[in-house]
Amino acid sequence: MTDYVPGFGNHVSTEAVPGALPIGRNSPQKPAFGLYTEQLSGTAFTAPRHENRRSWLYRLRPTAEHPPFVRYGGAERFAPGTVDAPLAPNRLRWSPAPPPSPAHPTDLIDGMTTMLANRDPADLEGVALHVYAANKDMDARVFTNADGELLFIPQHGRLALLTELGRIDIAPGQIALIPRGVKFRALLPDGEVQGYVAENHGALFRLPDLGPIGANGLANPRDFETPSAWFEDRDDPTEIVQKYMGSLWTTTLDHSPLDVVAWHGNLAPWRYDLSRFNTINTVSFDHPDPSIFTVLTSPSDVPGRANADFVIFPPRWMVAEDTFRPPWFHRNIMSEAMGLITGAYDAKAEGFAPGGLSLHNLMSGHGPDVASWRGASDAALKPHKIEGTMAFMLESCWPYRPTAYAMGCAQPDYDDAWAGFPKAKLP
Ligand SMILES: [Fe+2]
Repeated sequence: MTDYVPGFGNHVSTEAVPGALPIGRNSPQKPAFGLYTEQLSGTAFTAPRHENRRSWLYRLRPTAEHPPFVRYGGAERFAPGTVDAPLAPNRLRWSPAPPPSPAHPTDLIDGMTTMLANRDPADLEGVALHVYAANKDMDARVFTNADGELLFIPQHGRLALLTELGRIDIAPGQIALIPRGVKFRALLPDGEVQGYVAENHGALFRLPDLGPIGANGLANPRDFETPSAWFEDRDDPTEIVQKYMGSLWTTTLDHSPLDVVAWHGNLAPWRYDLSRFNTINTVSFDHPDPSIFTVLTSPSDVPGRANADFVIFPPRWMVAEDTFRPPWFHRNIMSEAMGLITGAYDAKAEGFAPGGLSLHNLMSGHGPDVASWRGASDAALKPHKIEGTMAFMLESCWPYRPTAYAMGCAQPDYDDAWAGFPKAKLP
């Protein structure tokens, strides 16, 4: 059992051994039990107070004690860089990846496939979208990402994420965030997992402002759960695989680095159950912009233009009158990568299956396919509940580039979704 502390960005104090946490100072001359003091900063030291995120860790050995990293030879589809060819203004869609083969035990690191990315991690801006398929616990190794925070979006199978700051258990329908630089090991209680990971190189994900909505609504802070301190005292060889500036690196310690006995601060992993999202929508007419479904936002330097928005399309009542209720045709300056966790998405009749992915980049025209357009145009507009579905969108102001692997397995006929619309008839 894991204890969780509710709240987003709280200042948490937690210790797995009574007396491990210093009181009244961050860096005492002699920490309890000979623990080592270490600060983990997620923002610049001088970031404004309301944005400043850091935690103090008290651990069995310092992170600094490690041999040199060398290039990691596995995980060939993880962070290979994107294609260099000029970016075509084409819409792209992918079917779900096949489940991992029992003949090839694969852990979460080697089971990662990068599909889309924008910007260079060294820019400290942009996002990447990976999919994962694994059927083996990470046993004697941990992973850490210096390039950004990782948002896990399971689609199949539960994940146990054993992090330096505590243990997080999630199932499809929940999400979890691992801060930049935090080491973790992923265990698979169901033996097999598939899902998505959004990697944010930019400003830390935060809850969006609510404006005229008021003080409550969308994702409420109290529903985010941060784990209490947990550690393992394991003096066995442990490999660290680290993603650093877009490449994978490895080194091996003679102990587990998941050895933080106590910590305090406001930079920590968390989990969130998407079913707790308080969905806001029209009760009169028209299709509001999908920004009403924003769970998390990573701002860019331009107000209102997100480096990344994590948006969901949850079960909800549709009651708009005299309205085409699914998204109408649109072209945006923002670029939209979408995934489907379960069920069906209301703007596509088929071809977008759970575990699949679609990309509608800057100014590429998209919207309902013919079947969805016809169905929604002719539907009787009674109150209707969309149930049993959960799609998400990772929207970014930076156009996405696919990886070579992604280009090689995109559906060849996605443009056909918009073929066959009858011409409008003028009087
Ligand atoms: Fe769209």
